[in-house]
Formats: sequence, C-alpha cells, structure tokens
Amino acid sequence: MIIAIANQKGGVGKTTTAINLAAALANKGRRTLLLDLDPQANSSMSFLDVHDLKGSIYDVLTDSVALSTIVQPSAKIRNLWIAPATIALAKVEAKLIGELDSHYRLKDVLQGDRDSYEYIIIDTPPTLGIITVNALVAATHVLIPIQASYFALEGTDDLLETIDKIKGRANPELQILGALITLYDKRTLLAKDIYEQIQRVFGVKVFKTVITKSVRLEESPAYRESIFTFAPRSTGAYEYYQLSEEVLGRV
Ligand SMILES: Nc1ncnc2c1ncn2[C@@H]1O[C@H](COP(=O)(O)OP(=O)(O)OP(=O)(O)O)[C@@H](O)[C@H]1O
Ligand SMILES: [Mg+2]
Repeated sequence: MIIAIANQKGGVGKTTTAINLAAALANKGRRTLLLDLDPQANSSMSFLDVHDLKGSIYDVLTDSVALSTIVQPSAKIRNLWIAPATIALAKVEAKLIGELDSHYRLKDVLQGDRDSYEYIIIDTPPTLGIITVNALVAATHVLIPIQASYFALEGTDDLLETIDKIKGRANPELQILGALITLYDKRTLLAKDIYEQIQRVFGVKVFKTVITKSVRLEESPAYRESIFTFAPRSTGAYEYYQLSEEVLGRV
C-alpha cells in the first residue's frame, strides 16, 4: 500500500500527518517507509540528520541510483525507514521537464521495492507540479489533509481534478483513502461549520478521526521526534493512533 499525503495548499498538516502516520504504522509492527518528496525536507529532518546522508530521493529520481542505497532506518522507531529529500529536489522539475517518462519516475523506482515494505507513506510539497504528480502516479491511495479554516476547501477542486486525470490514464487504481481534518480548534463555532462543509464535498471519505490543534504536535518536529516518543500521552498521539487504526480499517 502506497499512500501519498497531498494537498497543494501549504501548511495544512501534510508533513505532520506523514511523520506520525508512518510512525504509528511502524509501532504496530508494519514495515513502513516514509518517503520524502518535499524539497523542504521536513519529514527527513524529523528523523535523520540531513547533513550526513549518503544520497537523497533526488539522486534516485534523476540518476537511476537504487532506492535501497539512500534509505536509512529510524534510530528511534523499529520497522520505520526513511527515504530522505534535500533541497536539491527543488531542481527536479527543471531536470525532468521534457523527459517522456517524467511522471513515471517514482512508480518505476518503487516497482522493485514495494515488496520490501507493507506501507509506503509519501510526503509531498505544496504544489501540483511534477513531484506531486509522480507521487500520485506511484500511489495506490491518496490521503488529503484539510486544515479546518475558513478557506479550507480552496484549491481542493484542482487537486480532485488532478486526481481524476491521473486515474483516467496514468494510474487507474488510485483511490482516495480519505480526507483528514487537521488543525481543528473545537472552541470556535466556525470549526463545526467547516467540518460540515468538508463533509459535503467528501462525504463518507472524511475520517472520523479529527486532528486537533495542539502545542505538542507543533513542537515535536523541532525535537526530531514523532508524537509517540515526544509526548506519548498527548491528544495528538491518541489522534494519530486512531487515524492509523482507521487507515488499516479502510484497506
Ligand atoms: N495539529 C496541529 N497542531 C498544532 N500545530 C500543528 C498541527 N499540525 C501541524 N502543525 C504545525 O503547523 C505547521 C504546518 O504543518 P505541516 O508542516 O505538517 O504542514 P504541511 O502541509 O506539510 O506544510 P507545507 O505545505 O509547507 O509542506 C507546522 O509548523 C506544524 O508543526
Ligand atoms: Mg510539508
């Protein structure tokens, strides 16, 4: 199962979800790969020291370097591996543009490795460019984090259209795993409104688990930890654990 975490809107909780869903699945004993496709490399930084990497996903996508040579185990979590990104990935669009197989690079790369892991979680950048398209072409499922804010659904039309296009040709198997409401603040009246708005668009695809706004979740990446080691008793840990249960229940 290959899950792309995607929403071209910035700061909606893609990386936080990628990190903590991957950690939750690994904690359940599932062999999990967290694949970072964002040049900001925030997922990679949460688990690895990006200054001593042997290579990054950029090399894999552009130089036919084997994925296994860049993958590193997480020091703190068993069953979790990381395929790191670096800022070099920002050049990949320019490098691949005009190549006939530019949208299929990641799919081809994962062909040989998908049996090594039960779950591959892909963190994507806040754009709908070649990088995110590569993730959606390679994925079996897409999970869409949506920030519970007034403009929550802004841009989801474009994302859903892109998903439809990719299903139409490059990846007919692609399924929407679900929409995840993030950064939820239950003290506001607006939040309930937004929840209903999102439900009108995504219906039963909306996860029952809602990720609330919490200081612990905001802090954990700075300490290079998932929420499960940083604050195991926090609501954030509970919510991401619940999400992993729902994900396992949907596939
Ligand atoms: N539930 C939460 N509660 C509090 N802060 C959160 C929560 N989820 C994410 N954050 C914080 O909000 C910011 C944006 O989150 P995150 O980096 O996960 O979003 P993103 O969609 O990956 O952003 P980008 O589009 O830039 O890649 C980060 O500073 C993160 O620590
Ligand atoms: Mg991110």
